[in-house]
Amino acid sequence: MTDSQLHAIVSYVTQQFTAQTNSSHNLDHLNRVWQNAHHLAHLTHHTDPQCLRLLKAVCYLHDLSYATPIPLLFQYFTEVRRTNILVTPLLRQLQVPSSDIVQITHAITHHPWSIPFRRLNPHQDYLTQILQDADSIDYFHPLRLRVALQWTAQHYLTFMHPLINWFAKSGQDHIRLFLNLPQAVAYAQTQYSKN
Ligand SMILES: [Fe+2]
Repeated sequence: MTDSQLHAIVSYVTQQFTAQTNSSHNLDHLNRVWQNAHHLAHLTHHTDPQCLRLLKAVCYLHDLSYATPIPLLFQYFTEVRRTNILVTPLLRQLQVPSSDIVQITHAITHHPWSIPFRRLNPHQDYLTQILQDADSIDYFHPLRLRVALQWTAQHYLTFMHPLINWFAKSGQDHIRLFLNLPQAVAYAQTQYSKN
């Protein structure tokens, strides 16, 4: 993958998510996942330019189906398939090498279900492990929590706030159970104490 291909991917995704402000799957989430992944790549010594380009691409692409969401439960259980259906032709159109497309769609396929099911990827490649951990760390980020609280307030669901706050605090305290990389545990705590 070249720098210009990566630039085109990030520009496309940014355009797709620009209108998504009232969702926990918004551009801020993608930016934080990439920040997390970039940090984890340095901690695990996956810092050559090709590694970082693939990692940045997959961080921005992994939730693409949320740019055009369908009703919640269907979205939840079909997000990976829908995302790869959108991602594959996009990458082909940009003439990204087939081997990179295989790596990217593989990581997207295996990235969900760490929270709450603890379906981790201890034997997968660096791209899959870092994407999953970077995404899981952001699950309990204070800014993402704020979006969930705002959304429920707007939908007359404030009675859920104690449950959401408890879930977030519990997740932060037990984040090590939901991560592949031991290096990610201490880093996650720095994110939770920031805001
Ligand atoms: Fe995500």
